[in-house]
Amino acid sequence: MTVMSTPSSIAPRILISISDLRFSYGPAGAGVRPILEGFDLEVRESELLSIVGPSGCGKSTLLSIIAGLLRVDAGTVLVDGAERTEPGPDRAMIFQEDAVFPWRTVRANVEYGLQMQGKSRAERHRIADEYLRLVGLVDVWDLFPRQLSGGMRKRVDVARAMAVQPQILLLDEPFAALDVMTKEQLQLDFLGVWAKTQLTAIFVTHDLEEALFLSDRVVVMSRDPARVIRDVAVPFSRPRDRTLRTSQEFQELRGELAEQLRFETGDLEAIEAT
Ligand SMILES: Nc1ncnc2c1ncn2[C@@H]1O[C@H](COP(=O)(O)OP(=O)(O)O)[C@@H](O)[C@H]1O
Ligand SMILES: [Mg+2]
Repeated sequence: MTVMSTPSSIAPRILISISDLRFSYGPAGAGVRPILEGFDLEVRESELLSIVGPSGCGKSTLLSIIAGLLRVDAGTVLVDGAERTEPGPDRAMIFQEDAVFPWRTVRANVEYGLQMQGKSRAERHRIADEYLRLVGLVDVWDLFPRQLSGGMRKRVDVARAMAVQPQILLLDEPFAALDVMTKEQLQLDFLGVWAKTQLTAIFVTHDLEEALFLSDRVVVMSRDPARVIRDVAVPFSRPRDRTLRTSQEFQELRGELAEQLRFETGDLEAIEAT
């Protein structure tokens, strides 16, 4: 049978290919249970993938491995077909704690990575302005982080990570410390920036609603060892708005995933802490 393909039906290429990872903290050997074993995951270019799983299952460990911060015992992380074992400018991370320098202004924080890349002053200004606008920050560029609310600082943090134009964004529960209202606004703003930049993003969260609201795909991890036990294509169209959360389809999918986690891990409380 011949399958006619149009540009829109061509599957995006795989950008990140993780296969057969094994990782333990400390020396491997008898009695040491690996955190990750036989772990496989593929991420497509421009995909926004969320990872959920019980607390302590190895989500942060996995992101650190992809970032090149931890060395694996076995297996490979390929980006664009090439193995990655060291940190590089192609991958940027955003953590729960803001990675902003308190002694630098908002603008200087966003320009920091660009300075490291050797960009000219004019170029740094132009790019920082662009990303600060994209995350909805105006009129505060000359302020210092301590003068900002938690939500605004997180926006600076997002602009900082994205301004260096990485190929991949790794987010480790970036909004977990924010209050619900701020968090929901940040999610919307993040979606706006992501849609414009089309970055490939891996978003770790313990919040199923957040995962479903943001992502193209949600994978659920087990623990001891960590594996992908569920891989769900999120069926909701973009752009998304607040009303999606309360829709029946959304809540049904959320309920189904929560049920799966309860069944697979017996630890729903741990992932539903909020
Ligand atoms: N530096 C470390 N040394 C030893 N054990 C660690 C270290 N960091 C994390 N762990 C352990 O590895 C497991 C996975 O941790 P982590 O990746 O942080 O889980 P998650 O992000 O899913 O909550 C946990 O049992 C944790 O206690
Ligand atoms: Mg973690």
